[in-house]
Amino acid sequence: MLNFGPGREDGARVRTTGMEHVEGVKWYVSHTMKMRRHKLFLTLCMAGLCLISFLHFLKALSYVTFPRELASLSPNLVSSFFWNNAPVTPQVSPEPGGAEFLRTPLYSHSPLLQPLSPSRASEELHKVEFALPEDSTEYFVRTKAGGVCFKPGTKVLEKPPVGGRQEERADGAASGRPARKPLSAGGTKRRKWVECVCLPGWHGPSCGVPTVVQYSNLPTKDRLVPREIPRRVINAINVNHEFDLLDVRFHELGDVVDAFVVCESNFTAYGEPRPLKFREMLLNGSFDYIRHKVLYVFLDHFPPGGRQDGWIADDYLRTFLTRDGVSRLRNLRPDDVFIIDDADEIPARDGVLFLKLYDGWTEPFAFHMRKSLYGFFWKQPGTLEVVSGCTMGMLQAVYATDGIRLRRRDYYTMPGFRQYENSTGHILVQWSLGSPLHFAGWHCSWCFTPEGIYFKLVSAQNGDFPRWGDYEDKRDLNYIRELIRTGGWFDGTMQEYPPADPKEQMYAPKYLLKNYQRFRYLLENPYRKKEMVSLCMALDWRTPPPLLPQVKGRTWALVDLQQYPQGPLAVSQLLLAISVAAMPLHCEDMGPGSLLVPIVNTDVFLKHLSQTVAQK
Ligand SMILES: *[C@@H]1O[C@H](CO)[C@@H](O)[C@H](O)[C@H]1NC(C)=O
Ligand SMILES: *[C@@H]1O[C@H](CO)[C@@H](O)[C@H](O)[C@H]1NC(C)=O
Ligand SMILES: *[C@@H]1O[C@H](CO)[C@@H](O)[C@H](O)[C@H]1NC(C)=O
Repeated sequence: MLNFGPGREDGARVRTTGMEHVEGVKWYVSHTMKMRRHKLFLTLCMAGLCLISFLHFLKALSYVTFPRELASLSPNLVSSFFWNNAPVTPQVSPEPGGAEFLRTPLYSHSPLLQPLSPSRASEELHKVEFALPEDSTEYFVRTKAGGVCFKPGTKVLEKPPVGGRQEERADGAASGRPARKPLSAGGTKRRKWVECVCLPGWHGPSCGVPTVVQYSNLPTKDRLVPREIPRRVINAINVNHEFDLLDVRFHELGDVVDAFVVCESNFTAYGEPRPLKFREMLLNGSFDYIRHKVLYVFLDHFPPGGRQDGWIADDYLRTFLTRDGVSRLRNLRPDDVFIIDDADEIPARDGVLFLKLYDGWTEPFAFHMRKSLYGFFWKQPGTLEVVSGCTMGMLQAVYATDGIRLRRRDYYTMPGFRQYENSTGHILVQWSLGSPLHFAGWHCSWCFTPEGIYFKLVSAQNGDFPRWGDYEDKRDLNYIRELIRTGGWFDGTMQEYPPADPKEQMYAPKYLLKNYQRFRYLLENPYRKKEMVSLCMALDWRTPPPLLPQVKGRTWALVDLQQYPQGPLAVSQLLLAISVAAMPLHCEDMGPGSLLVPIVNTDVFLKHLSQTVAQK
């Protein structure tokens, strides 16, 4: 969906998705070809690379941190000098004060740079500080006439601009193609916005306002202004064993979030010991593509009272995550954005990018998230709307740097609120990105394999009663598989969720869909689909009732409920009464009103059915 500006796509991707070092080199080479004319410039670049490599080398040798003074005087000194005018700048600038191991191989241009030995790195992982870098990505292009257009949201110009000619092109297009967009509510033309022609899904004079903001309840939409310098975004998460969802989050948000603060405990929420799996994965390379953005928080104790009252443990996790994480972040600014999520709540990228790039929104904010159970296939009605973000300034002044208070949405009663609001000069109201119709993220609850659900059951806190992990039959893997198949819940209730359409725009995060095979278990019902497909294929929809098809050693009937005058409910109850206990299935391809019913006693079934038909 995101379309980076002409000639920039490859570069932007490398920069933004944090691909492997190799990719960076490939990109570099391809661009080198394009820019053959700028030989002198290239020579400078190479010299820069050598210098940087040399500095890394020195550092690796001596273990001395990169001179803080140089870095803090001008964090981008090195990079801006050598990479000036380059379309996309790999972040070669040092992270002042950042620990050695936070530097990813992506940025290590020197093969001589030695990684920390695992033992040393693991000792310090939860103590190290993290210096927030500046985000130097050029998100907006400024045209000669003074217009500011958000690149990914603006219709690209015919030919890819090269280097300095970009502005002329943007400008040429502006004069050649008058604005088609209404410029402002009043219809008064503001000359400086004329240039931006928005792509579908983008709005506002600069084309930087995504649909999830345009259709949100944000009361200050007419006050939005692109920022000169992007805010940094901090995303804090507690992790238990949601590693696939974590991987999905890192890919969805990896290029817009500046620091992921991830907390792991060696206790489960129930107070039992648990291995530090996430730390292990950080150290064994599973998350190398994002490790330079991860601040690891380790909770090494269980809160007093947490065993009696599980909610204490639950809240404490978020308090600790926020306090410990924020205390180890350097270079924080009050206007940076803080977002705290559960591991199964994944905000969509466009909304978060908006928060990063714009001024004029109010706080705190929530996200309308698409709700689903066991995977993305059991879509639940409505949205999950949890207050989960605000600026660092508000987090500190109003919420006392405690993420759980932020999520409780009672900001206006907090002692520091009025004073903070006064200091911002605006009335602060809570708002939500997205709407019930425009999802701004995904909340996928219990989205695991059956084994993962088992693990979640037994490690659940003591407080969310009934605690299903205490019941042996609820922990049974076959029982869990049956729940996934039917969309049922542990209390025995069955949900009649409408079938979710995988082609729906916000069905699942893009990374999941791109890696369909790997994440198939979250994208389609693993226990239902196969059965459904083979049954639906084996059954002839037009088979008259006396010729009930045999599949898998069972007799099945496919009944179109709409055909019976008693109404679908009465017929389905009748069918249930005379079929086996197993639930009837919707046969998706046959229309939503049909039921597929396993039949025990064919005679009884046919008798009932003929009576029913006779009444018609
Ligand atoms: C968790 O780690 C702390 C510190 O290393 C240790 O004292 C504690 O015993 C550990 N707890 C468990 C359950 O392993
Ligand atoms: C890293 O550790 C995790 C968790 O133990 C394991 O599943 C994964 O396969 C390991 N990856 C590598 C590359 O060793
Ligand atoms: C708000 O700020 C102004 C000055 O900026 C001050 O005079 C006023 O007392 C403040 N109000 C509150 C409620 O803090």
